[in-house]
Amino acid sequence: MHSYSSRIEGFHKQAPDDRLRLVAERTHLDAGSAAHFADTGNLPLETANRMIENVIGTMSIPVGVATNMIVDGRDLFVPMATEESSVVAAVCNAAKQARSGGGFVTSTTGSLMIAQIQLLDVSDPETARIKILERRDDIKAICDAKDPVLLKFGGGFHDLEVRIVDGARGPMVITHIIVDTRDAMGANAVNTMAEALAPSIAEWTGGRTLLRILSNLADRRLARARCTWKAEDIGGTAVRDGMVEAFQFADADPYRATTHNKGIMNGVTAVVLATGNDTRAVESGAHAYAARSGRYRSLSRWEVTKDGDLSGVLEMPLAVGLIGGATKVHPTAQACLKIMEIDSADRLARIVVSVGLAQNFAALRVLATTGVQKGHMSLHAQNIAIMAGAAGEEIDAVAKKLVARGTVRIDIAEEELKTLRG
Ligand code: MEV
Repeated sequence: MHSYSSRIEGFHKQAPDDRLRLVAERTHLDAGSAAHFADTGNLPLETANRMIENVIGTMSIPVGVATNMIVDGRDLFVPMATEESSVVAAVCNAAKQARSGGGFVTSTTGSLMIAQIQLLDVSDPETARIKILERRDDIKAICDAKDPVLLKFGGGFHDLEVRIVDGARGPMVITHIIVDTRDAMGANAVNTMAEALAPSIAEWTGGRTLLRILSNLADRRLARARCTWKAEDIGGTAVRDGMVEAFQFADADPYRATTHNKGIMNGVTAVVLATGNDTRAVESGAHAYAARSGRYRSLSRWEVTKDGDLSGVLEMPLAVGLIGGATKVHPTAQACLKIMEIDSADRLARIVVSVGLAQNFAALRVLATTGVQKGHMSLHAQNIAIMAGAAGEEIDAVAKKLVARGTVRIDIAEEELKTLRG
């Protein structure tokens, strides 16, 4: 191991290839690894360099297409960017079994985002709260003046809420501006408005404003999907009942709910990432929403219909946009939107929530029946075969032997490879 200094004067001003060279020199990186970073695939280096700081390259993640999805009566392919095996296949299977029931039906609350302004040092928080609420018209004017383009597209200031939140050092008056951000995710729009508004809030109340930032708990921007799977399409009533019991476990126990919701996010995040949207914004919003009752619970709900079929519903905050950020500049994100024929952020949110529900269905089904390891076995066996030295067609051949023997182990893979090679 070499020890090196990570201090480089003016590193951020260098060109990406110079940065890469400097890092490679300091870390004694081999030429192959350095060349690897230089290959930026479907994201041009100049674009990457404008997206974040100190760029030295890019990293590719597979994009798979989920087939069989019907969302609000429209068939579509859904591109999903994920590093996890089984995620795309799971959606394909779940969506296929949902087709005879018509697929996914969705709704949304519209594209309302919240920004918060923190007000401190007010001796009379109740009065301050009312004083802010009195200024609704002024607040609307200040906010809307900041984004005439949003206004033109039917968005802008929508509503006002003022809460008193008890902090460790006394009450804080928290103003929420609720803004319709239309096809934008909206972080930029609402942050600009909150920053513009804060001085007026301080002036009207005599207090001191501090933070001015959007809330990722986008509970005014919910997307909902529901879907009915016919009992006969999913393996019968025992499977159906097992899935409902699996949901009940998740809803009652945060340890299970975390994994259950992680499965939902396998699908949600993959579409959010494929479209260049902010995965962390959606994830933090989802988990906070799951805990809104004071206990962390399942984001989805599952029950049996009067006809004996399985019905699943998923409702969650989904702050995704089409304009701005990586969505606009990443050519792959643009291509993914084209595949889905997306014409509004609202439609994208509907597709994403449907994929989340499909993913959850697939996980519950496999967990309540065979368990996840059976499906993972063949991919795992392929990896072990590669580790044992198999190449080309040998990989599949050795993996099949491992699965047939029911033991996926490197020593057995080596043994099988030896036999195969005669
Ligand atoms: C694995 O990535 C996701 C699951 O664990 C989800 C679940 O347990 O519901 C299979």
